[in-house]
Amino acid sequence: MTFPARRLRRLRRTPALRRLVAETTVTPSDLIAPLFVREDATEPQPIISLPGVVQHTQESLRKEVNELAGLGISGVILFGLPTRKDPVGSEAWNPDGVVQVALRNLRDDHGSEMAIIADLCLDEYTDHGHCGVVTDDGEVDNDATLELYQRVALAQAEAGVDMVGPSGMMDGQVGAIRQALDANGHESLPIMAYSAKYASAEYGPFREAVDVTISGGGGNRKGYQQDPANAREAMAEVELDVAEGADIIMVKPALAYLDVIAAARARFDLPLAAYHVSGEYAMLKAAAANGWVDGDATAVEHLTAIKRAGADLILTYLAREFAETLY
Ligand code: PBG
Repeated sequence: MTFPARRLRRLRRTPALRRLVAETTVTPSDLIAPLFVREDATEPQPIISLPGVVQHTQESLRKEVNELAGLGISGVILFGLPTRKDPVGSEAWNPDGVVQVALRNLRDDHGSEMAIIADLCLDEYTDHGHCGVVTDDGEVDNDATLELYQRVALAQAEAGVDMVGPSGMMDGQVGAIRQALDANGHESLPIMAYSAKYASAEYGPFREAVDVTISGGGGNRKGYQQDPANAREAMAEVELDVAEGADIIMVKPALAYLDVIAAARARFDLPLAAYHVSGEYAMLKAAAANGWVDGDATAVEHLTAIKRAGADLILTYLAREFAETLY
């Protein structure tokens, strides 16, 4: 009888042995919690397709961020729901706009132990739901939009943001924002660039979370976000963002794009973020609610896979429960 020369099972015998040889671990400090703040809310509003996630009032947001800090979460990224929308999204750079108010509050509450990040885009603020200015022929005007992103960056910087996260996928957005920040004394403010962001169906629940319906331009973002068919193109996107001064690069969504995460990790040395998006969270929660998968185990497996593929940090709606019960 011949026996196998190598027995890989020896190190799988006990939990302690498995822990000792685990190549990847996820900790709360790897996670950034996306949070929604709604200008006209008097009570936190549940988001049906994102069980456990709410549209916060300014007060409930403060409480949530305090609790997340206590749980060891390193950062939050804010999305605002303004009361007033218009074709250019001007509430996004209003010094008293919903996110700027939230940033000032959170700045008062927190020292340096929690990174207060803001998503930098216009889609929550435009009445047509696109991420920029729409021309008469229904296209999103790249360069006109860049000027507006510069205004948003400055408004967020002046309100005390720790890092801005441009997510609109306009060409040149990182360079334009870097230029505006530097010209106005914000040379130290980092940019987390949504570099390889795909036109994904997995953003569905997020649109409910921010009350956005996309009108015109085919009702989608395929004219500016990446085609899910393309991985090499993602490297070109990241390369441009790095050249324009990105401090952190991001791949989004996460699980369907682990190959892109791995390729970006192999090629670039900047910190790499991955966004485990609303649809990924919603699918997990729906299957778990039906008893079809073990929700806790699947959540840990998914976050571990995203780190294993090469992400250093993960934006995820699971942040709180991971820190509370899964870690
Ligand atoms: C754009 C933005 C979106 C998400 C983050 N930033 C929506 C979009 O591109 O349509 C989606 C995040 C998620 O689905 O969790 N401001």
